[in-house]
Amino acid sequence: MKIFESLFSRRKFLNSLFGGGLLALFATVLTPVIRFCFPGVIGPEPDEVLLTPEEVPQLEPNQGAIFRYGNRPGLIFRTPSGELRAFSATCTHFECTVQYNGKDKNIYCACHKGYFDLDGNVIAGPPPRPLPRYVLEQQEDGGLLVMKPEWAKKKKEEQAEG
Ligand code: FES
Repeated sequence: MKIFESLFSRRKFLNSLFGGGLLALFATVLTPVIRFCFPGVIGPEPDEVLLTPEEVPQLEPNQGAIFRYGNRPGLIFRTPSGELRAFSATCTHFECTVQYNGKDKNIYCACHKGYFDLDGNVIAGPPPRPLPRYVLEQQEDGGLLVMKPEWAKKKKEEQAEG
């Protein structure tokens, strides 16, 4: 009887593990497909996002992190020379999330081995376009304003006009 109970709980455990793994696999595969087929589902990308000082990742040169740009992932990194840069982290191929690759000093998409240089340009793999780059504006309180380039340009022109 004890063996039966032991087997039963092991089976239950394995079933939950398998079920959870399957669910994670579906989420990983289906999310980019849904985003690609129904771009409106996650809403429009905001023109700017203000990261509070607590939300700004503390990065050493040649390190990167993912942050939230509205409902989408953004990639922020310090180049090996220490310059802070930010891009959309949504791959231009099938919308997987890209990562900063400090080892090879590039941006990498693991879904289909897409590679981008540190300016966001495609250097290898299937992505058809560069990654959209954001403009960064350091705030006095230590926060960081992340903006679409056209929005940053418009704000600058409005400020110049008075
Ligand atoms: S989704 Fe990035 S390379 Fe295919």
